[in-house]
Amino acid sequence: MTVFVAGASGAVGHRLVPLLVASGYDVAAMTRSPQKVDSLRAAGAEPVVADGLDAGEVMRAIMRSKPEVVIHQMTGLTGVSSYKKFDEEFSVTNRLRTEGTDNLLNAARAAGVRRFIAQSYGNWNYARTGTGLKGEDDPFDPDPPANQRKSLEAIRHLEDAVLGAQGMEGIVLRYANFYGPGTGFALDGDLAELVRQRKFPIVGNGGGVWSFIHIDDAATATIAAIEHGAPGVYNIVDDEPAPVAVWLPELARALGAKPPRRVPVWLGRLAAGEVGVSMMTQIRGTSNAKAKRELGWQPRYRSWRDGFRDGLGDVAPPKPASS
Ligand SMILES: NC(=O)c1ccc[n+]([C@@H]2O[C@H](COP(=O)([O-])OP(=O)(O)OC[C@H]3O[C@@H](n4cnc5c(N)ncnc54)[C@H](OP(=O)(O)O)[C@@H]3O)[C@@H](O)[C@H]2O)c1
Repeated sequence: MTVFVAGASGAVGHRLVPLLVASGYDVAAMTRSPQKVDSLRAAGAEPVVADGLDAGEVMRAIMRSKPEVVIHQMTGLTGVSSYKKFDEEFSVTNRLRTEGTDNLLNAARAAGVRRFIAQSYGNWNYARTGTGLKGEDDPFDPDPPANQRKSLEAIRHLEDAVLGAQGMEGIVLRYANFYGPGTGFALDGDLAELVRQRKFPIVGNGGGVWSFIHIDDAATATIAAIEHGAPGVYNIVDDEPAPVAVWLPELARALGAKPPRRVPVWLGRLAAGEVGVSMMTQIRGTSNAKAKRELGWQPRYRSWRDGFRDGLGDVAPPKPASS
C-alpha cells in the first residue's frame, strides 16, 4: 500500500517516514526541495518534489503516486520564537492548514484516496474553562487571545475540511506539544536552549496545563491511524498533562540547567503578551483515552517525566508494530 506523506522532512515526517518503510508501506515523500530528495530516498521513500501551496503541483504529485492514504504533516514553524506575535509567526503554517489542506484534499479526492490523516493540534486551542482533561468533544476556546484567533481559525478550517471530505475517511490527529529529536524540546533544540539560559520562566502560578507527546509516539499514533479508528478526531498526548510549574523544573533538571526563574504575570505579559500569559497560566490539558481505545495505541513514553529523562537526545526509533 502506498502512503503519501506531505511534510516528509519535518519534525514528524523525519521520524515517521523510516517507520512507515519499516512497517512495510511504500512511501511517497513530498518535499519542495530537490536538495532533500537524496535523504528521503535513503530513508526508503520515493521522493516527490512539489509545493503544497501550488494546487497544480500537488495534484500532479498525488495523481502520479496513486496512494491509498495521504498524511498531511506540512507546517512552517522553524524559527518560531515569539508568543507576542503568535498569529504572525504562524502565518505560513496557517496557509498550509487552509490552502495546503484544500490542495491535498482536492488531489486526494481526484486520486481516489481511501483515508486522509492530518496534523492538527490540541492544547492551547481548547476552552480555558473547567477542571479535568479535555476530550475531543470539548469545545475550542470561544474567546482566545487576540493574537491566536487566526491560528485557531486555521485549525478549524483544517479540521472541518478533513472531517467533511466527501468519499474519504478523514482523520484529524490533535497532537500535543512535541518533544524529542528534531523538535524545540530536544537536547539541541532552541526551546531547550532558552531553558538552559533561564529565559523560559514560570509566569505567575505556572498553572497552565501542558500536554506533551514524544515525537516518536506521534509517529506511532499516526501509523496506528492508517489501519485503525473510525473517521474523526483523536488527541495524541501522553498520560500526564501537567502544569508549567511542575514540568518546567523537571525539564531544566533533565537539561542540567538551573531551575527556571519565576516572574509575576504583569512581567510575563510585558515579555510574552496575552498569549504567553495564557500558555503559562490558563490553558487546559488533553486526554488520550479515545486514541488508546480506538486506535489501539500506547505511547512508549507514558509521561514526559520518562521522556525528558531518556528521550530528548538521539534515541533509537520505535519498532514497527508488526515486528
Ligand atoms: N504540536 C507541536 O508541538 C508542533 C507541531 C509542528 C511543529 N512543531 C515544532 O516546530 C518546529 C519546526 O518543525 P516543523 O516540522 O514544523 O518544521 P518546518 O521546517 O516548519 O517544516 C515542516 C514540514 O512541512 C513541509 N512544508 C512546509 N512548507 C511547505 C510547502 N509550501 N509545501 C510543501 N511542504 C512544505 C516541509 O517540507 P520541505 O521543507 O521539505 O519542503 C517540512 O517537511 C519543531 O521544533 C517542531 O517540534 C511543534
